[in-house]
Amino acid sequence: MTYEAAASFEPATTSGSATVLERSAVIDLDAVRHNVRHFVAIASPANVMAVVKADAYGHGAVQVARAALDAGARWLGVAHISEALALRAAGIDAPLLAWLHTTESNFQAAVAAGVDIGISGWELDAVVAAAREQERPARIHLKVDTGLGRNGATIDQWDELVGSAMEYQDEGLLRVVGIFSHLAVADEPHRLETDEQLAAFREAIAVAEDAGVDTEVRHLANTPATLSRPDTHFDLVRVGLGLYGLSPFEGQNSAELGLRPAMTVRTLVSNCKRVPEGQGVSYGLNYRTPRPSTLGLIPLGYADGVPRVATGGPVQIGEITYPVVGRIAMDQMVIDLGGVGPAEAGLRGAEAIMFGDGTNGGPTADDWAAAAGTNNYEIVTRISPRVPRIYANEAPEADRP
Ligand SMILES: Cc1ncc(COP(=O)(O)O)c(C=O)c1O
Repeated sequence: MTYEAAASFEPATTSGSATVLERSAVIDLDAVRHNVRHFVAIASPANVMAVVKADAYGHGAVQVARAALDAGARWLGVAHISEALALRAAGIDAPLLAWLHTTESNFQAAVAAGVDIGISGWELDAVVAAAREQERPARIHLKVDTGLGRNGATIDQWDELVGSAMEYQDEGLLRVVGIFSHLAVADEPHRLETDEQLAAFREAIAVAEDAGVDTEVRHLANTPATLSRPDTHFDLVRVGLGLYGLSPFEGQNSAELGLRPAMTVRTLVSNCKRVPEGQGVSYGLNYRTPRPSTLGLIPLGYADGVPRVATGGPVQIGEITYPVVGRIAMDQMVIDLGGVGPAEAGLRGAEAIMFGDGTNGGPTADDWAAAAGTNNYEIVTRISPRVPRIYANEAPEADRP
């Protein structure tokens, strides 16, 4: 997809078209739809929950949620109730689960808005109080910790949690809609802990069923488990990273998994100048030009979400990809165009791509993850609000789910 193609659509989040032209994250919603359809086919007969927390990993929660539902996802998942309420406020009424709460979470609003609530333990009484107040049964999913060591009832607490939930269900205060857990190492398919977690999950389901729980959905799999472990699919798979077209596996890229990266971060070369051999570049002067050279200034920095540690990350201009040299600063970073002549200074104003879908060898979020020593989840999610999102291939309003 070219920027020109994307730009022909009405920008959804901009602070003026000049800003968009200067730098933007172009989100190709056709790529999201393609990826969702791919996961729907892999997971069937299980359904797909599109995980759109953290503003859809930086892609835009409302736009991605609509595209995902359009392409066959049946559920939406977020971490915070506030994220769920924002989706409801946008008119999205699909089944929607929020699973990470604090004592200040707005359970009343969640119950009122028909948001399903993940319950690890202490939340149960607070949610029941909200249901009483709202005079509406809460919809809950009981979460068991099968080994990740974060949220979820421990196996020891599980019996009691299930028993209390069933008492409240009998009183008509809630409905246990689901049972779920989260995997720790599914991105490393050789690791045996996934088998242990799966066995613990099956055991927890058996305990709940013995206690009379009759769920609509049992769910465990994330993106890597959906791709590599059909035995973890149960009734519903919770797919985040894969929706955005990114690979969860080291050594396997998006194309090899049949996925299309949805986000392209691009800007314009801000300045271009000829410098002598030995020119220091950026704070710390950690890089010096090894010969007379031309430096290109790229107006993206850590305030835009580029990791400060990612020196060496690739930037594509035209057909050529250059590594970032010297330290990445708050607003800018520098590439060394090499010993090119003054004519090349004409690159000022040329489009510079930080990462995109990787076709024709272009830079990817995976490349930036490698340069920063992190994962591709973090690269896309941290692209900051200073970079306007623009949407390619957004469905016309009348056709939206
Ligand atoms: C509970 C839960 N389920 C599913 C996901 C989606 O994971 P992934 O992006 O690997 O598909 C997440 C994301 O971290 C999560 O926290």
